[in-house]
Amino acid sequence: MMNTNFYKAIIISLAMVMVSPVFAKGDAAAGKEKAATCAGCHGAEGISASPQWPNLAGQVPSYIASQLAAFKSGERKNATMAGFSAGLTPEDMADLDAYYASLTPAQGSISEDQVELATQGEKIFKGGFAERQIASCMSCHGASGKGIPKHFPSVAGQKQAYLEAQLLSFKKGERKGYNEMMYSIAFALSEQQIKALSVYMSGLN
Ligand code: HEC
Ligand code: HEC
Repeated sequence: MMNTNFYKAIIISLAMVMVSPVFAKGDAAAGKEKAATCAGCHGAEGISASPQWPNLAGQVPSYIASQLAAFKSGERKNATMAGFSAGLTPEDMADLDAYYASLTPAQGSISEDQVELATQGEKIFKGGFAERQIASCMSCHGASGKGIPKHFPSVAGQKQAYLEAQLLSFKKGERKGYNEMMYSIAFALSEQQIKALSVYMSGLN
């Protein structure tokens, strides 16, 4: 079971290498200066203060640049981020990407009353959900959720409300991503499973 999922992920990632855009290597020091306008929401060290705003610290290299390009083109829809990406050049995106990738990621934690929910999420994260042919999340996002460069983002210690909102958005087909892979996965998950997975991922370190 594991093996099939693993190979499926490899095949998909190989396919993505061929179609995804190439981003120039950024300069983290330049990125730090450019990130001054982002700090109000994403935090001075890339760890946000609100559950609706994602942490960016320690994200896998090139994921942040890819998302900024997607916000700018409108492929990923969010009014706030459309505004903040509108003026960015590909070089700015690469610099911001290098800066955030260099920061220390958030420490995940789960409150006592959510431990049971997290255990449900852990089962799917590690083992998939065979009844609906869902591959394990860790086959793409890594065993501890830290992502696999450069296409699979880190989800470890990410804000719970943000994770849940993104999975619901994939499920509804509103957020498409590089391709349809998260859409078909999230489509097959129930809202209860999405909640459980979000709790689990927010506690990963
Ligand atoms: C006013 C608040 C605000 C500011 C300022 C802001 N952002 Fe965001 N950002 C958000 C919100 C809200 C989201 C979640 C969007 C969604 O739900 O799709 C987001 C999402 C993102 C994401 C996607 C993260 C992921 O895990 O997919 C990136 C990358 C990002 N912002 C980078 C930046 C950068 C770089 C700047 C500065 C140039 C910036 N943001 C400024 C609020 C903000
Ligand atoms: C076949 C590979 C693959 C599998 C399996 C997979 N993902 Fe993903 N996931 C991706 C990719 C690629 C992205 C980035 C998509 C994009 O926006 O371009 C992503 C994005 C996400 C995001 C958004 C992260 C952010 O910062 O906005 C979340 C949350 C997520 N996945 C959760 C899950 C969960 C939960 C599972 C298991 C039920 C799962 N993924 C299984 C490939 C995968």
